[in-house]
Amino acid sequence: MSKTVLVTGGGGYIGSILVQDLLSHGYDVVALDRFFFGKETLAELASNPRLSLVEKDIRDVDESDLEGVNAVCDLAALSNDPSGEIDIDLTYEINYKGRARIARLAKAAGVQRYILSSSCSVYGSGGSNRLDETFPTAPLTTYADSSLKAEESILALADRTFSATALRNATVFGISPRMRFDLVINLMTLHASEKGMITVMGGGRQWRPLVHVRDVARAFRNVIEAAKEQVSGQVFNIGLASFQIRSLAYIVRETLPFLVQIHIAPDDHDKRDYKVRFDKARELIGFDAKISIEDGVREVYEALKLGRVEYTTRTVTVDWYRSILDAKALIDRVELDGRIL
Ligand SMILES: NC(=O)c1ccc[n+]([C@@H]2O[C@H](COP(=O)([O-])OP(=O)(O)OC[C@H]3O[C@@H](n4cnc5c(N)ncnc54)[C@H](O)[C@@H]3O)[C@@H](O)[C@H]2O)c1
Repeated sequence: MSKTVLVTGGGGYIGSILVQDLLSHGYDVVALDRFFFGKETLAELASNPRLSLVEKDIRDVDESDLEGVNAVCDLAALSNDPSGEIDIDLTYEINYKGRARIARLAKAAGVQRYILSSSCSVYGSGGSNRLDETFPTAPLTTYADSSLKAEESILALADRTFSATALRNATVFGISPRMRFDLVINLMTLHASEKGMITVMGGGRQWRPLVHVRDVARAFRNVIEAAKEQVSGQVFNIGLASFQIRSLAYIVRETLPFLVQIHIAPDDHDKRDYKVRFDKARELIGFDAKISIEDGVREVYEALKLGRVEYTTRTVTVDWYRSILDAKALIDRVELDGRIL
């Protein structure tokens, strides 16, 4: 009998690729999401009888959503640092308490495995130390802090019957049906293609780990398929390698078939700087990221050229959430006034 995986945030940048990966490897999948970025992100998979969509806020999930589920991949969240600062309480409600609650419900419902999509940003500013999973965390933002609190509360649930794992994903790149141009490689490729120029903020010596979106999806599947003793209660850094931001700009420039200028700007409000090691995932679950930065750049460039992806408000997470909140505020005002503009 095939296994059922509940993917929260299944309509998102990573989620829509993970759903595709799981279906193609024989799993039944339930994609649960508010679908803030639309259901179109799963349109190509919608006719697959092994996929069901549940449009729901993770804070409203109940036992019935977990019936018959073998594993939960918990990806729903306000998914980056600037989005996490729009409404700090809401970020803790969703990214920390919402996900911790899903894990508790999953355990109570007899789900065997739970995997949290956490982030390497919990390391904050570890600089050029090569950070493994034992290195002290130092979250710099609400987003990172809420991820760390979710990790702590969820991993404490792990026991003989319930396997709980946190994946600290590196910054992701590559093409997805829910495209994001607020991620460094995707954005550099966009700017190089459209302006012939990449601007590197903060001097560019800061370290950032990277990973392709299809590799992240495979990492989730690896954890679902690994022996429980190897993954339960564990944290894994998931990534290809760490790069200084300015060297990424040079890779993007070398990969593209036209002239690109690089401008290094001294300041950046983003103080994240972390050089991460990925040995543990390789040693314990045999996970190795395979897709190179160059392949990701080519893929994004080709998609831009063919008009398959474009830079819009919706592809910049913080802009999209702000526009949704503005629209909601407007509707609330109209309802309060009792009249239609
Ligand atoms: N993309 C990256 O570089 C990266 C890196 C590290 C960790 N992560 C983590 O991976 C996860 C997925 O990231 P992503 O890049 O796919 O982001 P995304 O914004 O594309 O996807 C998140 C999904 O969650 C949904 N969502 C948000 N709040 C919800 C709620 N309250 N109830 C139900 N659904 C809700 C959104 O509609 C969206 O489809 C997040 O937890 C993120 O923090 C992402």
